[in-house]
This record gives sequence, structure tokens and C-alpha cells, in this order.
Amino acid sequence: MSDDSIIRQASPANILLAAAELAAGNLIGIPTETVYGLAANALDIHAVAKIYKAKNRPANNPLIIHAESAKLARTFSLPELPTWLADQWDIASRFWPGPLTVVVPRGNQIPDIITAGGDHVAIRVPNHAVAIELLNRCDFPIAAPSANRSNYVSPTTAQHVADGLGRNVSLVLDGGPCESGVESTIIKLEPKGPRLLRPGGVSPDELSSAFGQPLIASAPRSTRQDSNVNTRVTGERTLEAPGQLAKHYSPKKRLIIDNGTDHVRDAVQSGKRIARIYFARPLDSATRDYHQTWVLSDSGKLLEVASQLYHAIREADQSECDLIVIDKCEPTGLGLAIMDRVHRAASSAD
Ligand code: TXA
Ligand code: MG
Repeated sequence: MSDDSIIRQASPANILLAAAELAAGNLIGIPTETVYGLAANALDIHAVAKIYKAKNRPANNPLIIHAESAKLARTFSLPELPTWLADQWDIASRFWPGPLTVVVPRGNQIPDIITAGGDHVAIRVPNHAVAIELLNRCDFPIAAPSANRSNYVSPTTAQHVADGLGRNVSLVLDGGPCESGVESTIIKLEPKGPRLLRPGGVSPDELSSAFGQPLIASAPRSTRQDSNVNTRVTGERTLEAPGQLAKHYSPKKRLIIDNGTDHVRDAVQSGKRIARIYFARPLDSATRDYHQTWVLSDSGKLLEVASQLYHAIREADQSECDLIVIDKCEPTGLGLAIMDRVHRAASSAD
């Protein structure tokens, strides 16, 4: 059971209280436009260590830091940037505040524990009034991974945070359900151009038209775990963007994608109680075989699908059903991030 009394409406007084908790080295839950974050003072290594512990997150999986403006974000990288990097940074900054994270060379003030010992730091400016107001009240950047236990589905409401990490935070600022609903897009700025490390709220098309070139693709999922060796602090590898591990964002129940193939029909015929998540409203007759159904968007709008996706997966996971069956969509635009998360949720790899 979660302790709901830690959920606080994001009033000005509670935002001040939240800033004081962070300054005191405590963890809190914060809203952003993508998902809720598990926040700590990014410059306080003891506070940041609590994030890893609470999430049960491997020490080689680095954290994103959040700043309230593009100008401030710039101060967390090197004071002098080569021209190629400064140019890309200017273009990336146009997406801020917003669901884009950039991976850039880290400045001296960023502790090793944030980058898991790597030379690069991930930074973004969130597009959420409560997060920005909180950042304005803090004289440090905020480290915030998604506020879920490692590998579980990310939280998109304050209640989700209380359910999963209630014991680990002094409070959760309730800024309402997250508008975007999937995590930020992550790009690494490289001499040849930006490399896509994680699809998210900003689509590759929007980025490639802003940068005037296609994004560099990352290695296929199966090989990613072996890339980017770094042993400076942890003695382990720093993962390229470890959110890319196949099993991530996964419910506890088995989840399968409805590919129109026999395995869904077989599951129905075997008498399994099925939780069925639709992206668009189906015909009534289509739903009768299912124990419980969710419709993420009446008309199949991907913005609505993304914003409802994790909530529905969490509810289906907590239902009495035996199995979750979910729709698929074209993996283009926002559909790329949606299908990336759906495939991970469907992954049974450990
Ligand atoms: O939308 C978001 O990005 C949310 C909100 C709270 O801002 N945060 C989030 O954080 O999704 P997290 O920790 O759940 O996912 C961050 C991903 C991880 O896969 C991590 O490996 C990658 O970013 N990452 C962090 N720092 C990195 C770095 N220096 N180099 C490469 N990847 C990095
Ligand atoms: Mg996460």
C-alpha cells in the first residue's frame, strides 16, 4: 500500500517546501511534461546516491540533469566548445523547454556519480511550469531519472510515484498527469552530427529537419550493451544509453503485441483473462473476448496514445487479468517512441 499523504498539490508554498527538501539532501517526486522524476540536488553526491539506491539502479546507468533555462544548461558543459558542438547545441536549445535531452561533454562541477564516471552529461530543460518554478527556487541543477523502480513502467501521475517509491521520497509534488507521457528523446552531439540514443517526445523528423541532416542511428539493441566502455569510476562499463537495455519499462504480467497473428486468438481460446489495450476505439464486437479493455484515444491520435500509455499498462498490470494484449502503430514520428516502449514492455528478456 502506498502512503498518499506524501502527495502535495504543487502550490507555491509546497514548491518552496520541495526546494528545501532537495537542499537538505532528500529525494522528492516531481512532475515534468514527459514522466515524473525522482529528484535530488545534482551537486550533492550523497543525495544522488539515494536515487540509485531507491530505484535499485545499476551504478553504471547515468542520470539526466535538469536546468531551468538553456543558458544555465550551457554552464554544465565545458566553458569552451568546439564550433561543431556550439552550433549543434544552439539548434538543440531551440527545443527547450521540451522533451529533448542532449548528451554533451561534462563540465567540472558535475560529479562522477551523475555521469557514472563517463565524460559526458545528459541535460534537459523540462517544459512544465512546476518543474521550472522548482528549479528557479533551487541554486543547483536537479538530477531526475524517471520515478519508478528500475525496469518497471515509468510514472505519469503523482499517485504512480507514491505507489512505487513512496517510502523513499519526502514528498511528491502533484502537477497533474504528464502531458507527453513518454520519456524525452535523447541525442548525443557528435562531430558528424547528433546521434539518436533514445526515441521520445521529439520525433526524429523534427530533429533532422532542424539539424539539416538525418540523425545518426545507434547500434542495434542486441549489441548496445557492449558499447562505450568506460571504467573511470565504477570499474564497470558505462552503457551508451542504458535505458536501451531490452528489458525496461516492463509490467510484471506478460504483455504481447497484437500482430493480427494466431497467438492472441490462442490466448483467448485457452480461457486466459486478457487485459486489452487499444490505441483507437474498436468496434464493440471486437472487445467481447476480453476481460477488461482500455482505449487510449477515440481516434487513435498518437499524442493521446503516448500520454495514456503507461497509465493503462500499470492498470492492466494491477488488474486480475492473466495477460496484457496491446495494439501497435507505425513506428514513425511519435509512433517510434511509442513502439520502442511497447516492444520493451513486451520483452521477456532479463
Ligand atoms: O523524460 C525524461 O527524460 C525523464 C524526465 C524525468 O526528465 N527522465 C528519464 O530519466 O527518463 P531516466 O534516467 O529514466 O532515463 C535517462 C536515460 C537512461 O537511459 C540513461 O542511461 C541515459 O538517459 N543517460 C543519462 N546520462 C547519460 C549519458 N551521460 N550518456 C548517455 N546516456 C545517458
Ligand atoms: Mg527511466
